[in-house]
Amino acid sequence: MTRARVAPVLVTGATGRVGRAVVDVLIDAGVPVRALTRRSEAAAALPAGVEVVTGDLTVPESLDAGLRGAGAVFLVWTVPPATAAAVVERLATDVRRVVFLSSPHQTPHPFFQQPNPMAVLHADIERLIAAAGLQATIIRPGMFASNALFWWAPAIRTGDAVRWPYGAAETAPVDDRDVAAVAAATLYQDGHAGGDYVLTGPESLSQAEQVRIIGEVLGRPITFEELSPEEFRRETEGSWPRPVVDMLLDAWGATMGRPAYITSTVAGILGSARSFRQWAADHATAFAEGPAPSS
Ligand SMILES: NC(=O)c1ccc[n+]([C@@H]2O[C@H](COP(=O)([O-])OP(=O)(O)OC[C@H]3O[C@@H](n4cnc5c(N)ncnc54)[C@H](OP(=O)(O)O)[C@@H]3O)[C@@H](O)[C@H]2O)c1
Repeated sequence: MTRARVAPVLVTGATGRVGRAVVDVLIDAGVPVRALTRRSEAAAALPAGVEVVTGDLTVPESLDAGLRGAGAVFLVWTVPPATAAAVVERLATDVRRVVFLSSPHQTPHPFFQQPNPMAVLHADIERLIAAAGLQATIIRPGMFASNALFWWAPAIRTGDAVRWPYGAAETAPVDDRDVAAVAAATLYQDGHAGGDYVLTGPESLSQAEQVRIIGEVLGRPITFEELSPEEFRRETEGSWPRPVVDMLLDAWGATMGRPAYITSTVAGILGSARSFRQWAADHATAFAEGPAPSS
């Protein structure tokens, strides 16, 4: 394996699902890491040896210290679009290489083709990166397996039924650790500049099958109770952002009757891709009865 650089990689979203795992893979590979967070106290949850820098994507100049001397950036965008142009401009002043966590909004499958603000934002950032002349790799995961934690763990911890819409809608949940491992590999292995990778899990599973698999892993049956889209809108009212609810309902509705879109890119780069069952087994304690485990 060829080490491309020894300058640190600035990891944004370093305390989040994907970024945190990217930090681990880079550290294991001996790549120096600079982790960006808005909260200096987050340093405690990051591995020893990581240089923690504070910065905020909504305040572009706050990124300067983290960018200075960095060799590459892992970019995770979780804020409104307003500062994207200024951030990419600053990024291009200091580094040549960026790996951007995007989504498969160009993939011609109905699940990915529903108009939504996130797809627009990701496409805009990709254009900014291209226009800035950065050497880029675009990482496009489909549905994260870990969404199941946010969506279903509360109901599964306290009962034996999940009330959810579109039980027959098929997705190919991708393990966040695989997304992170691919992203990290493109940062420390040569040959990925210009790469554009759609990442999915290895199998198409309906949402009801995913819930059943979690039950099998836990050793107790979990029932899938079908909600209509309207019931789901009502049940999530006030607790979920409406655009997110609409985006999901549109995507699930559009994919009904079709298998999920699947790529072999994760296995191609990493050698194998984790199944949803594996993901569920590795996260079983988060679904186990009782209060939510602290993260
Ligand atoms: N969920 C899915 O199925 C899915 C699928 C495809 C793509 N994606 C994309 O994945 C991305 C989210 O990744 P994730 O789930 O790993 O994120 P996440 O777990 O939600 O973590 C959010 C991260 O963003 C950081 N952050 C939030 N506001 C910030 C700000 N103003 N300035 C700097 N950093 C800020 C947080 O850091 P601090 O709090 O420490 O500052 C945290 O590390 C999104 O772009 C999403 O569209 C998601």
